[in-house]
Amino acid sequence: MSRSLHRPGSSNPSAQPDFEQVLLSRRELFKGGMAAAALAVLPGCAAQGTRPQLGFTPIAPSLEDLLRVPPEYEAKVLYRWGDPVGATAGMPAFRMDASNSAADQALQAGMHHDGMHYFPIDGSRRGLLAMNHEYMDEGLLFPDGMKTWSAEKVMKAQHAVGVSVIEVMQEKNQWEVVRPSKYARRVTARTHCRIAGPAAGHPLMRTAADPGGTIARGTYAGCAHGWTPWGTYLTCEENWHIYFANSGSIPADQQRYRISAKGFNTRWHEHDERFDAGRHPNEPNRFGWIVEIDPFDPDSIPVKRTALGRIKHEGAACSVGADRRLAFYTGDDEDGEYIYKFVTDRPFDPASKQANQDLLDHGKLYAARFNPDGSGDWLELTGPDLGEVRVRTRQAADAAGATPMNRAEWIVPHPVTREVFGALTGGKGNPFGHIVRWTEEGNDVSATRFKWQVFVRAGPQGKGTIQGDRFANPDGLWIDSMGTLWVQTDMSSRSMGTADFAPLGNNQALAVDPATGVFRRFLTGPRGCEITGFHTTPDNRTVFVNIQHPGETPGDRSDPDNPRAFSNWPDYAPDGRPRAATVAIRRRDGGIIGS
Ligand code: FEO
Ligand code: CA
Ligand code: CA
Repeated sequence: MSRSLHRPGSSNPSAQPDFEQVLLSRRELFKGGMAAAALAVLPGCAAQGTRPQLGFTPIAPSLEDLLRVPPEYEAKVLYRWGDPVGATAGMPAFRMDASNSAADQALQAGMHHDGMHYFPIDGSRRGLLAMNHEYMDEGLLFPDGMKTWSAEKVMKAQHAVGVSVIEVMQEKNQWEVVRPSKYARRVTARTHCRIAGPAAGHPLMRTAADPGGTIARGTYAGCAHGWTPWGTYLTCEENWHIYFANSGSIPADQQRYRISAKGFNTRWHEHDERFDAGRHPNEPNRFGWIVEIDPFDPDSIPVKRTALGRIKHEGAACSVGADRRLAFYTGDDEDGEYIYKFVTDRPFDPASKQANQDLLDHGKLYAARFNPDGSGDWLELTGPDLGEVRVRTRQAADAAGATPMNRAEWIVPHPVTREVFGALTGGKGNPFGHIVRWTEEGNDVSATRFKWQVFVRAGPQGKGTIQGDRFANPDGLWIDSMGTLWVQTDMSSRSMGTADFAPLGNNQALAVDPATGVFRRFLTGPRGCEITGFHTTPDNRTVFVNIQHPGETPGDRSDPDNPRAFSNWPDYAPDGRPRAATVAIRRRDGGIIGS
């Protein structure tokens, strides 16, 4: 998610030193030589990449309204906002003037594609792509933007977010969406979800519409993504709070999650009363969760897994322990919020999907404290009323003394070494962002201590510590099975092309071998977009990527009278509008991505 929905400021009352202060203390320690040992390269990190050297031709920054890849690669647009998902219930065509109905939108790709995962059906030839549609731009979603407002418009907006599951297959080296497909599915802000784990049925989860506190309506604001080894998709509710409005006196719980009088002016509460947080004070408690979806069963009910905590989740990346217990890393993407880890109580069963169906309901949740000497602690969040601790996760982490971070975005563990990389996109004290890396004590995913380092401090020439091609505001991260780290950026549409950011061009994706730390620019996006969702097929010969919010305005919403003001990607239709899209990228010779 780009600039517009991240309002400056923080609701965090913690007096703990924030990450920038920790870094300053670390430099002081280093000057004194006390932490030299801690600054040595982390054990088990370097030289464990298994890939051949990165070999593609790096590309220059670009401010053009184009998707660019190295000359030896080709990119194919696969699934744009408004394209039919391929459900047997109907495949309404996209109307360039945005006049599709709410019912049409429920059968079409949502807006603002984000994290994405490929689930193989036939290896790297045919599979399912599950992806988040993070938010929407009402200036592009409706022919007249928000000049008029109605229940139909609220419903269309609610159908434009959530999740898509599409079936994709490769024919003659070209990827296509399979339509119709028995797997094709949209999950939206109106889909019923089961609430599971410690907060299920808790008094804080009960509402007028759901007195039992076990069935929530909808999942949306899904950012980054997660997955499980048994083939389910995790959507991660991030900026869910902006759809709520509370015109009365805002209770402390709602203030801590930054619910405000008007939210982001999305006006859902005018036609869907549950989003009036004054009248329905517990409804916000039913959002901010990790939600598990079985992409192979289109009739399955998504499940809100409350054991993983309630924050503004950025992803839930899975690391498999030697004992088959799982750790999920998740950031709370707001300035001054925390990084979390959930560890399952039980090992997963690789032989039986059924045996894992409540694995995510039982485990320990931790928040991270980064110490100046390069050590870190996972602080357990627990208490006699575990349901309350999970609903009030931020408050529990405040009390535990976690370290406020400057906007934690994607966190990914290396699939072989288990080393973890986390993007801090930038915030107070650091406009360009960082990537940090850490290893768990004993390389054990359930450890309560870790060792950390800054992998790179981003920024243009003269700022930061980047070797190779420069970038700012890292957001999406992906480590392919060969050990290459793919970094995707989200410079805001207010800063892109201006001042220090100008030489960096539009948002982009870069590759780096963690063992060398040298970055190469692989892709540059059209104007106004962010790059996200990078995901390689198991054979490493295709990478799927999402181009989110092309043409995003530096203001809050696009001008419906001038939808092509900033971009007309990918259709360039004279009467069209920019559309987020999934793109499949391959080497022209069918070689390994990154070579
Ligand atoms: Fe949705 Fe934190 O980006
Ligand atoms: Ca972002
Ligand atoms: Ca993001």
